[in-house]
Amino acid sequence: MKLLFATTNAGKLAELRELLPGVEVISAAEAVPHLEVEEDRDTFEANAEKKARSYLQASGLPSLADDSGLCVEALGGRPGVQSARYAPSDAERITRLLAELQRANNRKAHFTCALCVAFPSGELLTGHGECHGEIALAPRGAHGFGYDPVFVVPSGKTLAELTRAEKAQLSHRGAAMRAIAPQLLARLGRS
Ligand code: IMP
Repeated sequence: MKLLFATTNAGKLAELRELLPGVEVISAAEAVPHLEVEEDRDTFEANAEKKARSYLQASGLPSLADDSGLCVEALGGRPGVQSARYAPSDAERITRLLAELQRANNRKAHFTCALCVAFPSGELLTGHGECHGEIALAPRGAHGFGYDPVFVVPSGKTLAELTRAEKAQLSHRGAAMRAIAPQLLARLGRS
């Protein structure tokens, strides 16, 4: 069972491999190293679908794409679909976020993840997941990626203080994957 995962993010790739035991997950870099797809749509769902369709077309393999981001209540849902473009690096994105929230009383936020799998038959499978929490006052923890060091889950830990397996239980990507896993595995078993 082969599945291309349309990402260049090593953290997401490791998480997906953990979420889909038994599936040979091939990275975008291995399958179609030169393809770049611009995430220029207005919604997570539309970006995920665009990426999944583009990678299917380039590789011929069933292709899964994820578009995800952080929505912060006090910022009216920003950075949202712009989460990757909020600043040039993970460290700068965190610095900007903490600066924008310096005077905020409400630090509630959630991650959203839209998943889309495009199959050679033309079928699409889509899933959605969220993870709710708060933005910490300062970064903590060494695991994960992106905004994980400043995203506090109800236990009081940041996502970066959790193991990969613990994060998968709680995360937006884990929830979206669990929503589509039975259909995805059945569909891959037939191809
Ligand atoms: P994209 O889905 O690759 O466009 O990523 C959107 C932005 O949200 C990037 O800056 C990611 O690092 C961040 N992001 C997405 N998922 C997570 C997560 O699980 N933890 C922390 N940051 C994330």
